[in-house]
Amino acid sequence: RCAIDDLRDVAQLRRRVAAAAASLRTGGLVAFPTETVYGLGANAFDDTAVRRIFAAKQRPVDNPLIVHIANGDQLEACLPVGYHLSPDERKLMQTFWPGPLTLLLPAGPQIAPAVRPGQELVGVRMPNHPVARALIAEAGVPVAAPSANISGRPSPTVADAVAADLEDAIDWLIDAGPSAIGVESTVLLLEPDCARILRPGGITQEMIAKTIQRPVLFAADVFDLDAAPLSPGMKYRHYAPNARVHVWWGEEAAIASAMRAFLEGEGDGADAATTIPALIAPQDFVSRFEWHLPPVRMAALPADDYATNLAHALYDLLRRFDQVGATDILVYGVDPAHGISTAVMNRLQKAASGRVRRVE
Ligand code: TXA
Ligand code: MG
Repeated sequence: RCAIDDLRDVAQLRRRVAAAAASLRTGGLVAFPTETVYGLGANAFDDTAVRRIFAAKQRPVDNPLIVHIANGDQLEACLPVGYHLSPDERKLMQTFWPGPLTLLLPAGPQIAPAVRPGQELVGVRMPNHPVARALIAEAGVPVAAPSANISGRPSPTVADAVAADLEDAIDWLIDAGPSAIGVESTVLLLEPDCARILRPGGITQEMIAKTIQRPVLFAADVFDLDAAPLSPGMKYRHYAPNARVHVWWGEEAAIASAMRAFLEGEGDGADAATTIPALIAPQDFVSRFEWHLPPVRMAALPADDYATNLAHALYDLLRRFDQVGATDILVYGVDPAHGISTAVMNRLQKAASGRVRRVE
């Protein structure tokens, strides 16, 4: 494991990245930081190495991986020989790469079959994190990497979360501190007449719509848990801590009374005697609940740009509240219609198995 303190020394950082890159080239598994969440990487051209990812994560083998690249040559190596990018593909790459946008593109012959089980397309993204880019460039091959967690658990946004899930299964863990964004990349499929967001993320619908001419739609299952997913990964239980998650969003006073009712044992089959609650909400809101909860089970996030702060902190909080034995995590939600809120509420809906309510 290579820690953030080592990374402050540039020569040391170079040596560590070079060693981890060499490990990737020879079939190793390397957990590395990106701007969204930590990834668990393997050489995308090496089928045996890629299959180790599935084993380490206990990931269903029909769930395809995202391939990470650092430059144009690596992009070309992912695509069919002689493939010409469409104007919209080019525009999206120019506008949002490096960054949290995964584009589904025709897969070239070099991509290992395990990366894209049963899929004609391969998800490709160029991450915007200096350590990730140095690692992938130095490896000299595209790097297949899902989030570095056991399947079904919240994605890791700090290195400790990676270690907790995968310590014994990986060759390297590069720790560069908390991920800036905190939710995974947007997965986008270009269809003949529209662009479809299969997974909302750091690049929002509005941002994409400003860049290309065609309408930008969401796959049905982004908001509706019962709809059939277009992306294989979206059908699995996801992002869930052991505790039950409950989300309320809408009018603040109504959120407060719904949460109070829950804490007093009135809603959702809650039992005040056995419930060990935890709360995630804006700072001033949390102060209303101070007498209900000890500090270890309260997360007061800055109210300015709350949705962004929630995205950044959510997965780590879900994991921490599990560690302190919470049975129920109460979350002050956000209006899913815009910006990063769509991604946060999509993840919360899955973490909460549908226990998301709008209140007024
Ligand atoms: O931000 C991220 O995207 C992070 C970091 C590490 O880059 N990675 C990540 O990977 O979240 P993962 O494996 O946890 O999620 C990949 C998602 C899944 O929902 C998967 O089904 C979808 O992308 N996906 C990948 N390839 C696909 C394909 N060919 N067709 C449809 N969906 C695909
Ligand atoms: Mg994942």
